[in-house]
Amino acid sequence: MEGLIAAHGGRLINRMLEGKERIDAEKRAKELKKIELTDREISDLEMIAIGAFSPLEGFMCREDYHCVMDTMTLTGGAVWTIPITLSVSSGEAGGLKEGMEVALTDGDGGVLAILCIEEIFGHDKEKEALQVYGTAEDAHPGVKKVYEMGEMLLGGKVSVIKRPVHAEFNDQRLDPVETRRLFREKGWKRVVGFQTRNPIHRAHEYIQKCALEVVDGILIHPLVGETKGDDIPASVRMRCYKALIDNYYPADRVALVVNPAAMRYAGPKEAIFHALIRKNYGCTHFIVGRDHAGVGSYYGTFDAQYIFDEFDPASIGITPMFFDYTFFCKSCGGMASYKTCPHDSSSHIILSGTKVREMLRGGVCPPSEFSRPEVARILIEAMKGQS
Ligand code: ADX
Repeated sequence: MEGLIAAHGGRLINRMLEGKERIDAEKRAKELKKIELTDREISDLEMIAIGAFSPLEGFMCREDYHCVMDTMTLTGGAVWTIPITLSVSSGEAGGLKEGMEVALTDGDGGVLAILCIEEIFGHDKEKEALQVYGTAEDAHPGVKKVYEMGEMLLGGKVSVIKRPVHAEFNDQRLDPVETRRLFREKGWKRVVGFQTRNPIHRAHEYIQKCALEVVDGILIHPLVGETKGDDIPASVRMRCYKALIDNYYPADRVALVVNPAAMRYAGPKEAIFHALIRKNYGCTHFIVGRDHAGVGSYYGTFDAQYIFDEFDPASIGITPMFFDYTFFCKSCGGMASYKTCPHDSSSHIILSGTKVREMLRGGVCPPSEFSRPEVARILIEAMKGQS
């Protein structure tokens, strides 16, 4: 009944407490030791609570943590590529014991959940950097985050009392149960998920629409959790997505829903993780283009596609849709990719991120073959506000 594709691990997890259980936990939490979560941990907690990280029911224990790094699977055998961990300092860990319950709080001290501590164990930061991100350099934003985390990890199931409160995008916050219902209501049997942390330019639009040619609907699922400082803020991106959809997409074939997860920039490993999350939201297909979830030059342009070959497709479940590098080609007179275009680079309109930012900052719209003017105008306005 949940939808047309089973959640990862077979069952959509729900770690939200309801009714009397919630009231009792709220009372109990008042007496418990408190642990303040970081923004990333808060978003991970929410993802666990709503089943977006199914089959996870809490923060990882030692065996799962190492198994994910060593074999890209959980100890139970399900594919999983990114550690989901809760860290504390060694000092903080000293006052905790396995088997103990602690209250997890937001930055204002508000209790969000109870964690039953199953294990307290060492955070193997160097191993995590190398195995997950492929580098130990702290110039990598994902690795930097790992190094900033605490020395010890707390593993165990969470029971969520209160969802984190969000100031923005509340109309676009659908949980996996709700997107699955939406797809059913719309009669979409095959739904492609699209991950993004950028404004949607013509290249993104093209691959989305190519995918939409072969499925029933598209879930545009921008990541709105923590991103690195120089990424465009989610509030600006959301305005861009809405303008684009209003002007260029068929309303009955597209859903715009936010993904509350934090960005890791782990390239290939994160591509698998992104696909599994979208499977939990009920998507049957997932787009992976060039340098998916990449940063700088840490990953090869198509590493995030090649990694899918390392798995039995049935163990991933959701079908990846791979796209080559896409651009507008003046000789073709339309959008194309290195796979479909026979012309040389002098025909191609390709602009670097740096160049585009420079144009927008100077109040100049990039060519309409690169970015829709409705989108460019929003970005120019937003950049004016910044300076
Ligand atoms: S990401 O970090 O979320 O992957 P971005 O929002 O830029 O970054 O990309 C969203 C998706 O579009 C990813 O699957 C990415 O591989 C794909 N993509 C972005 N630009 C292109 C392009 N020019 N050609 C093909 N795929 C692209």
